Amino acid sequence: MTKLFGVIGDPISHSLSPLIHNAWFREHGIDADYRGMQVPAGELAHALEALAREGCKGLNITLPHKEDALRLSDEQGDIAQRLGAANTLVRTKSGGWRAENTDAPGFALALQNENVDLAGKSVFILGAGGAARAVALSLSDLGANLTICNRTIAKAEALAELVTSPCTVLSLDDGLTKLATADAVINTLSIGHSGASLDLPSGNDRLFFDISYGKAADEILRSAKTNGWQIADGLSMLVAQAAYSFEFWFGILPDTASALKRCRAAVEATQ
Ligand code: ATR
Repeated sequence: MTKLFGVIGDPISHSLSPLIHNAWFREHGIDADYRGMQVPAGELAHALEALAREGCKGLNITLPHKEDALRLSDEQGDIAQRLGAANTLVRTKSGGWRAENTDAPGFALALQNENVDLAGKSVFILGAGGAARAVALSLSDLGANLTICNRTIAKAEALAELVTSPCTVLSLDDGLTKLATADAVINTLSIGHSGASLDLPSGNDRLFFDISYGKAADEILRSAKTNGWQIADGLSMLVAQAAYSFEFWFGILPDTASALKRCRAAVEATQ
Protein backbone atom coordinates (compact mmCIF):
# COMPACT_ATOMS: atom_id res chain seq x y z
CA MET A 1 0.00 0.00 0.00
CA THR A 2 1.23 3.51 -0.82
CA LYS A 3 2.63 5.08 2.37
CA LEU A 4 1.66 8.62 3.32
CA PHE A 5 4.22 11.36 4.12
CA GLY A 6 3.94 15.13 4.01
CA VAL A 7 4.67 18.59 5.32
CA ILE A 8 2.29 20.38 7.68
CA GLY A 9 2.23 24.18 7.77
CA ASP A 10 0.20 27.31 7.11
CA PRO A 11 0.70 28.60 4.45
CA ILE A 12 1.96 25.51 2.60
CA SER A 13 1.13 25.87 -1.11
CA HIS A 14 4.59 27.38 -1.82
CA SER A 15 6.45 24.41 -0.30
CA LEU A 16 9.08 22.67 -2.45
CA SER A 17 9.16 19.65 -0.11
CA PRO A 18 6.69 17.53 -2.17
CA LEU A 19 8.88 18.07 -5.26
CA ILE A 20 12.00 17.04 -3.34
CA HIS A 21 10.65 13.99 -1.51
CA ASN A 22 8.45 12.53 -4.27
CA ALA A 23 11.49 12.49 -6.60
CA TRP A 24 13.56 10.71 -3.92
CA PHE A 25 10.75 8.17 -3.44
CA ARG A 26 10.91 7.44 -7.19
CA GLU A 27 14.74 7.27 -7.18
CA HIS A 28 14.70 4.75 -4.32
CA GLY A 29 11.69 2.71 -5.50
CA ILE A 30 9.67 3.63 -2.39
CA ASP A 31 5.90 3.32 -2.77
CA ALA A 32 4.93 6.53 -0.97
CA ASP A 33 3.21 9.84 -1.59
CA TYR A 34 4.39 13.14 -0.02
CA ARG A 35 1.78 15.90 0.26
CA GLY A 36 1.61 19.50 1.44
CA MET A 37 -0.99 19.71 4.23
CA GLN A 38 -2.42 23.05 5.31
CA VAL A 39 -3.21 23.02 9.03
CA PRO A 40 -4.06 26.26 10.90
CA ALA A 41 -2.21 27.28 14.09
CA GLY A 42 -3.43 25.39 17.15
CA GLU A 43 -4.77 22.41 15.17
CA LEU A 44 -1.65 20.28 14.93
CA ALA A 45 -2.69 17.77 17.63
CA HIS A 46 -5.91 16.99 15.82
CA ALA A 47 -4.09 16.65 12.48
CA LEU A 48 -1.46 14.31 13.94
CA GLU A 49 -4.15 12.02 15.39
CA ALA A 50 -5.94 11.85 12.03
CA LEU A 51 -2.68 11.18 10.14
CA ALA A 52 -1.65 8.46 12.59
CA ARG A 53 -5.00 6.75 11.95
CA GLU A 54 -4.30 6.94 8.18
CA GLY A 55 -0.98 5.12 8.75
CA CYS A 56 1.29 8.13 8.12
CA LYS A 57 4.93 7.20 8.88
CA GLY A 58 6.70 10.53 8.72
CA LEU A 59 6.11 14.28 8.52
CA ASN A 60 7.90 17.54 8.08
CA ILE A 61 6.66 20.42 10.17
CA THR A 62 6.97 24.08 9.26
CA LEU A 63 5.61 27.43 10.46
CA PRO A 64 3.61 27.92 12.67
CA HIS A 65 3.81 24.43 14.19
CA LYS A 66 7.48 23.72 14.99
CA GLU A 67 7.25 24.33 18.75
CA ASP A 68 3.91 22.50 19.03
CA ALA A 69 5.37 19.51 17.18
CA LEU A 70 8.05 19.18 19.84
CA ARG A 71 5.53 19.54 22.66
CA LEU A 72 3.12 17.00 21.18
CA SER A 73 5.77 14.34 20.47
CA ASP A 74 6.41 11.28 22.65
CA GLU A 75 10.19 11.24 22.14
CA GLN A 76 12.60 14.04 21.24
CA GLY A 77 16.01 14.04 19.55
CA ASP A 78 18.84 16.09 21.09
CA ILE A 79 18.90 18.93 18.52
CA ALA A 80 15.10 19.35 18.58
CA GLN A 81 15.28 19.60 22.36
CA ARG A 82 18.09 22.17 22.27
CA LEU A 83 16.27 24.27 19.64
CA GLY A 84 12.87 23.93 21.30
CA ALA A 85 11.39 23.15 17.88
CA ALA A 86 10.92 20.18 15.54
CA ASN A 87 10.77 20.11 11.74
CA THR A 88 10.60 16.32 11.41
CA LEU A 89 8.32 13.71 12.99
CA VAL A 90 8.99 10.00 12.77
CA ARG A 91 6.32 7.44 13.65
CA THR A 92 7.61 5.17 16.42
CA LYS A 93 7.07 1.41 16.72
CA SER A 94 4.71 2.06 19.65
CA GLY A 95 2.56 4.31 17.42
CA GLY A 96 3.69 7.68 18.81
CA TRP A 97 5.80 10.43 17.21
CA ARG A 98 9.51 11.10 17.65
CA ALA A 99 10.49 14.75 17.12
CA GLU A 100 13.74 15.65 15.34
CA ASN A 101 15.21 18.85 13.98
CA THR A 102 17.19 18.72 10.74
CA ASP A 103 17.43 22.50 10.17
CA ALA A 104 20.73 22.86 12.08
CA PRO A 105 22.52 19.88 10.45
CA GLY A 106 20.95 20.97 7.14
CA PHE A 107 22.64 24.35 7.44
CA ALA A 108 25.96 22.65 8.26
CA LEU A 109 25.66 20.43 5.16
CA ALA A 110 24.77 23.44 3.00
CA LEU A 111 27.97 25.18 4.19
CA GLN A 112 29.95 22.05 3.42
CA ASN A 113 28.46 22.00 -0.09
CA GLU A 114 29.64 25.62 -0.53
CA ASN A 115 33.14 24.39 0.45
CA VAL A 116 33.18 26.77 3.38
CA ASP A 117 34.76 25.94 6.74
CA LEU A 118 33.80 28.49 9.40
CA ALA A 119 35.46 26.81 12.40
CA GLY A 120 37.23 29.49 14.44
CA LYS A 121 36.00 32.23 12.03
CA SER A 122 34.07 35.38 12.89
CA VAL A 123 30.50 34.91 11.66
CA PHE A 124 27.80 37.58 11.87
CA ILE A 125 24.23 36.31 12.05
CA LEU A 126 21.64 38.93 11.05
CA GLY A 127 18.37 38.21 12.86
CA ALA A 128 17.34 36.20 15.90
CA GLY A 129 14.09 34.46 14.92
CA GLY A 130 13.38 30.74 14.64
CA ALA A 131 15.61 30.18 11.61
CA ALA A 132 18.49 32.06 13.27
CA ARG A 133 18.31 29.62 16.20
CA ALA A 134 19.10 26.65 13.93
CA VAL A 135 21.87 28.59 12.18
CA ALA A 136 23.40 29.72 15.50
CA LEU A 137 23.32 26.24 17.00
CA SER A 138 24.91 24.76 13.89
CA LEU A 139 27.68 27.40 13.76
CA SER A 140 28.29 27.12 17.48
CA ASP A 141 28.74 23.34 17.15
CA LEU A 142 31.15 24.00 14.26
CA GLY A 143 33.21 26.26 16.57
CA ALA A 144 32.59 29.62 14.88
CA ASN A 145 32.88 32.90 16.82
CA LEU A 146 29.42 34.41 16.59
CA THR A 147 28.08 37.95 16.51
CA ILE A 148 24.28 37.99 16.64
CA CYS A 149 22.76 41.23 15.32
CA ASN A 150 19.08 41.94 15.79
CA ARG A 151 16.63 44.86 15.86
CA THR A 152 15.20 43.52 19.14
CA ILE A 153 18.26 43.09 21.35
CA ALA A 154 16.44 40.93 23.94
CA LYS A 155 15.82 38.25 21.28
CA ALA A 156 19.49 38.25 20.28
CA GLU A 157 20.47 37.91 23.97
CA ALA A 158 18.09 34.97 24.40
CA LEU A 159 19.60 33.31 21.33
CA ALA A 160 23.14 33.89 22.63
CA GLU A 161 22.26 31.73 25.65
CA LEU A 162 21.70 28.77 23.34
CA VAL A 163 25.21 28.76 21.93
CA THR A 164 28.36 27.37 23.49
CA SER A 165 30.98 29.07 21.31
CA PRO A 166 32.17 32.69 21.87
CA CYS A 167 29.23 35.01 21.14
CA THR A 168 28.68 38.79 21.01
CA VAL A 169 25.29 40.52 20.76
CA LEU A 170 24.78 43.77 18.82
CA SER A 171 21.84 45.84 17.66
CA LEU A 172 21.16 45.31 13.96
CA ASP A 173 22.22 48.87 13.10
CA ASP A 174 25.45 48.50 15.05
CA GLY A 175 26.14 45.08 13.51
CA LEU A 176 25.68 46.39 9.98
CA THR A 177 28.37 49.02 10.56
CA LYS A 178 30.84 46.33 11.74
CA LEU A 179 30.50 43.83 8.86
CA ALA A 180 34.04 44.69 7.73
CA THR A 181 35.29 42.57 10.67
CA ALA A 182 33.28 39.45 9.70
CA ASP A 183 34.69 36.43 7.85
CA ALA A 184 31.14 35.51 6.79
CA VAL A 185 27.58 36.87 7.13
CA ILE A 186 24.44 34.77 7.45
CA ASN A 187 21.23 36.68 6.78
CA THR A 188 18.10 35.31 8.46
CA LEU A 189 16.13 38.60 8.44
CA SER A 190 12.69 38.39 6.88
CA ILE A 191 12.97 41.87 5.31
CA GLY A 192 13.67 40.45 1.82
CA HIS A 193 10.08 39.21 1.62
CA SER A 194 8.96 42.82 1.19
CA GLY A 195 11.70 43.54 -1.35
CA ALA A 196 13.93 45.48 1.09
CA SER A 197 17.70 45.29 0.75
CA LEU A 198 20.76 45.85 2.96
CA ASP A 199 23.50 48.43 2.72
CA LEU A 200 26.58 46.19 2.62
CA PRO A 201 30.28 47.09 2.66
CA SER A 202 32.72 45.60 0.19
CA GLY A 203 32.70 41.78 0.41
CA ASN A 204 36.21 40.96 -0.84
CA ASP A 205 35.04 37.44 -1.67
CA ARG A 206 33.73 36.72 1.84
CA LEU A 207 30.61 34.53 2.18
CA PHE A 208 27.17 36.16 2.32
CA PHE A 209 24.65 33.36 2.89
CA ASP A 210 20.96 34.28 2.78
CA ILE A 211 18.74 31.52 4.16
CA SER A 212 15.84 32.74 1.97
CA TYR A 213 15.57 31.92 -1.72
CA GLY A 214 13.69 33.09 -4.79
CA LYS A 215 12.16 36.57 -4.74
CA ALA A 216 12.69 36.89 -0.97
CA ALA A 217 16.48 36.71 -1.40
CA ASP A 218 16.83 38.36 -4.82
CA GLU A 219 17.41 42.02 -3.96
CA ILE A 220 19.75 41.39 -1.03
CA LEU A 221 21.85 38.80 -2.89
CA ARG A 222 22.03 41.02 -5.97
CA SER A 223 23.39 43.85 -3.83
CA ALA A 224 25.83 41.49 -2.02
CA LYS A 225 27.16 40.17 -5.34
CA THR A 226 27.58 43.68 -6.72
CA ASN A 227 29.63 44.50 -3.62
CA GLY A 228 31.97 41.55 -4.15
CA TRP A 229 30.56 38.97 -1.72
CA GLN A 230 30.55 35.23 -2.49
CA ILE A 231 26.80 34.63 -2.34
CA ALA A 232 24.66 31.59 -1.46
CA ASP A 233 20.90 31.34 -1.04
CA GLY A 234 18.83 29.06 1.20
CA LEU A 235 17.87 26.42 -1.38
CA SER A 236 20.82 24.19 -0.49
CA MET A 237 19.83 24.38 3.20
CA LEU A 238 16.24 23.49 2.28
CA VAL A 239 17.36 20.44 0.33
CA ALA A 240 19.86 19.38 3.01
CA GLN A 241 17.31 19.51 5.85
CA ALA A 242 14.96 17.45 3.64
CA ALA A 243 17.71 14.89 3.02
CA TYR A 244 18.27 14.42 6.75
CA SER A 245 14.49 14.01 7.29
CA PHE A 246 14.47 11.34 4.57
CA GLU A 247 17.37 9.65 6.35
CA PHE A 248 15.38 9.59 9.62
CA TRP A 249 12.45 7.89 7.82
CA PHE A 250 14.32 5.42 5.58
CA GLY A 251 17.91 5.18 6.85
CA ILE A 252 19.22 6.43 3.46
CA LEU A 253 20.83 9.83 2.81
CA PRO A 254 19.49 10.73 -0.67
CA ASP A 255 21.24 12.66 -3.46
CA THR A 256 21.09 16.40 -2.77
CA ALA A 257 22.70 17.65 -6.01
CA SER A 258 19.88 16.54 -8.33
CA ALA A 259 17.24 17.71 -5.83
CA LEU A 260 18.89 21.14 -5.72
CA LYS A 261 18.79 21.37 -9.52
CA ARG A 262 15.08 20.48 -9.56
CA CYS A 263 14.32 23.08 -6.87
CA ARG A 264 16.31 25.79 -8.62
CA ALA A 265 14.45 25.11 -11.87
CA ALA A 266 11.10 25.24 -10.04
CA VAL A 267 11.98 28.54 -8.33
CA GLU A 268 13.24 30.09 -11.58
CA ALA A 269 10.04 29.03 -13.36
CA THR A 270 7.95 31.07 -10.90
CA GLN A 271 10.10 34.24 -11.10
P1 ATR B 1 11.98 33.10 11.17
O1 ATR B 1 11.33 32.19 12.18
O2 ATR B 1 11.73 32.68 9.75
O3 ATR B 1 13.41 33.34 11.47
P2 ATR B 1 10.98 35.44 12.49
O4 ATR B 1 10.99 34.70 13.79
O5 ATR B 1 9.78 36.24 12.16
O6 ATR B 1 11.20 34.49 11.26
O7 ATR B 1 12.30 36.36 12.46
C1 ATR B 1 12.45 37.36 11.53
C2 ATR B 1 13.73 38.17 11.81
O8 ATR B 1 13.73 39.29 10.95
C3 ATR B 1 13.83 38.71 13.23
O9 ATR B 1 15.17 38.75 13.61
C4 ATR B 1 13.25 40.12 13.07
O10 ATR B 1 13.73 41.05 14.03
P3 ATR B 1 12.96 41.25 15.46
O11 ATR B 1 13.38 40.10 16.29
O12 ATR B 1 13.45 42.55 15.93
O13 ATR B 1 11.49 41.24 15.13
C5 ATR B 1 13.81 40.50 11.73
N1 ATR B 1 13.04 41.57 11.08
C6 ATR B 1 11.81 41.47 10.54
N2 ATR B 1 11.43 42.66 10.01
C7 ATR B 1 12.47 43.53 10.23
C8 ATR B 1 12.69 44.90 9.91
N3 ATR B 1 11.78 45.63 9.24
N4 ATR B 1 13.85 45.44 10.29
C9 ATR B 1 14.78 44.73 10.95
N5 ATR B 1 14.64 43.42 11.28
C10 ATR B 1 13.50 42.83 10.92
